[in-house]
Amino acid sequence: MPRLAGQTTEYFENQLRAFVERRRETHIAIVMSRVHGLSPEMRTALAAHFTDLNPKPFGSAERKLVATGKAIYEEGAPDANVPACSACHGPEAEGSGPIPRLAGQLYPYTTKELANWSKERGQDAANPDTSAIMKPIAHSLTKSQIEAVAAYLSYME
Ligand code: HEC
Repeated sequence: MPRLAGQTTEYFENQLRAFVERRRETHIAIVMSRVHGLSPEMRTALAAHFTDLNPKPFGSAERKLVATGKAIYEEGAPDANVPACSACHGPEAEGSGPIPRLAGQLYPYTTKELANWSKERGQDAANPDTSAIMKPIAHSLTKSQIEAVAAYLSYME
């Protein structure tokens, strides 16, 4: 389950629409059944509610991965052609518009998303979306790079 607190309103709404239009998959049936029942006005109201929340990060990932994760976040992995995450997600991982906030995101969620990118997102080839921007990046990261950057993000405020 993702942390929704502090998420940008545009990204939040985009993702709810992606679930409704079946561009984004989830194996958690309750998410699908609930999201389908929301009107566009309710989606906007929920997005506005969550963006204003700012709890402390839950953390809990392995601390020893954090330094490597910070380096990937700020500098990318040039050998693997991975750009710095901060270039899009912002120096504090706060996100902007269609680019999500990553700060304080839960470790299990971030690792799951990055490892399963193309199984969950961009599921309607006839209707490409913003998930295509992250696709080559998610594919280029190794498992240990994913774990390191996810650990770093889980502690960011
Ligand atoms: C070129 C801009 C760009 C760069 C660089 C970038 N991202 Fe992204 N990222 C995006 C966009 C746009 C999305 C939203 C995709 C969507 O709409 O499905 C995203 C989404 C994500 C998500 C999903 C978040 C969620 O709440 O579901 C994660 C995780 C993520 N990025 C991690 C990273 C990491 C880690 C890096 C660095 C290795 C990185 N990104 C670099 C643009 C970028």
